Amino acid sequence: MNAIVLTDQRWAIGLDGGPLFSLEADRKRSGELTEGGTVIVGHRNLGCFPGDQPLPGRRNIIITPNAELKIDGCEIALNPEAALEMAGGPDAENVWILGGGSVYAVLLSRCRRVYRIQVDAKVESPDTWFPNLDKLANWRLDFASEPFQEGKYTYRFTDYVNTDLA
Ligand SMILES: NC(=O)c1ccc[n+]([C@@H]2O[C@H](COP(=O)([O-])OP(=O)(O)OC[C@H]3O[C@@H](n4cnc5c(N)ncnc54)[C@H](OP(=O)(O)O)[C@@H]3O)[C@@H](O)[C@H]2O)c1
Repeated sequence: MNAIVLTDQRWAIGLDGGPLFSLEADRKRSGELTEGGTVIVGHRNLGCFPGDQPLPGRRNIIITPNAELKIDGCEIALNPEAALEMAGGPDAENVWILGGGSVYAVLLSRCRRVYRIQVDAKVESPDTWFPNLDKLANWRLDFASEPFQEGKYTYRFTDYVNTDLA
């Protein structure tokens, strides 16, 4: 199981329930990585998907405590552990944590790898964060791309590995 995230320089990921950036590079890479796989998503984050709809061509597991909730194209998990179990456990292939903040926080330790896009910007007063992997002893930077430009943003791909699971 792996996670995909788009952050600013300081690992901020969200503001007022929405994303901080809209990058085609992020959509493209997330699409490529998760194609044919299983995505695990917090209920709030589903509202950030195009048309509030689950991602086509993937198994979508939505985390909510609301057992009555029914969303076409989604399976409901009542908590992150249940989502993990439904996905086949942390060692299952092609399983992706897509956030948001509460889901990353709980399931990060079970991820082998984090695929980050790091935007060279500092967002004012964000309210949702990804754990700072540069400060966690069990996470190591494994890859950093050259910088790329999209519109006004410079970004780079940075991948981290969980040395506890390596
Ligand atoms: N930059 C990125 O890569 C990225 C990616 C994803 C999200 N985001 C941002 O992150 C923010 C959303 O994150 P968030 O933390 O506010 O929300 P979230 O993690 O997307 O979803 C939270 C919801 O998930 C359910 N949930 C979470 N933990 C649960 C648990 N232990 N048991 C049962 N249900 C649980 C609850 O659903 P109910 O609401 O049904 O109670 C809760 O309200 C947004 O700003 C979004 O744009 C950024």
